[in-house]
Amino acid sequence: MHDLSAKRIVVASHNAGKLREIADLIAPFGFDARSARDYGLPEPEETGTTFEENALIKALAAASATGLPALSDDSGLVVDALDGQPGVYTANWAEKADGSRDFMMAMEKTEALLRARGAVDPGDRTGRFVAVICLCWPDGTHELFRGEAEGTLVWPPRGDKGFGYDPVFMPEGHDITFGEMSAEEKHGWTPGQPTALSHRARAFKAFAEAKLGRA
Ligand code: IMP
Repeated sequence: MHDLSAKRIVVASHNAGKLREIADLIAPFGFDARSARDYGLPEPEETGTTFEENALIKALAAASATGLPALSDDSGLVVDALDGQPGVYTANWAEKADGSRDFMMAMEKTEALLRARGAVDPGDRTGRFVAVICLCWPDGTHELFRGEAEGTLVWPPRGDKGFGYDPVFMPEGHDITFGEMSAEEKHGWTPGQPTALSHRARAFKAFAEAKLGRA
């Protein structure tokens, strides 16, 4: 039976920033939502070339290993002037030789490439954060939900409230970056509200509407 009435789910991520946000988003629905890290699961290799493929790889690995329905998030930053880069390689751009991640280095790389392409005016620095949430069952049955947040890349980085590339991303219609927003502001959504702001909250809202019966 593919229903979520048991209210147990494994959140197929090891990323602390994402886990915090997904925990926030799912909290009003009363789930026992533990993470892949809580279950001691290894991080699967993300070999896909789309957010959808990678979201499925992560959710399927966690669902198969635990026997529980799994919810994953594959996300990234798509910059127009960089032909969509870093895209599915957003996390990789932060990887250092020793395997650790340095997001200041990743933001600097993005900025250097934008400058090299002459993208200085805000109108030339547009892009979006994309999140694809996958709900997957141990038998491989799955559904995908995509959310996107349009915005502009700013420099220098601003704010220390978020994670990853938040300090350089100013969402459309706002004059502060995701890094300067509280978690609530960045989600821009609670169940029952008609709109959401962040890519993750938009994807989660679509998941909640389809699978949790209310959103
Ligand atoms: P992945 O989904 O594990 O491949 O990693 C996606 C990467 O995109 C993360 O490591 C972050 O660097 C970045 N990212 C995704 N969502 C956000 C966000 O909400 N804020 C800032 N960075 C994000």
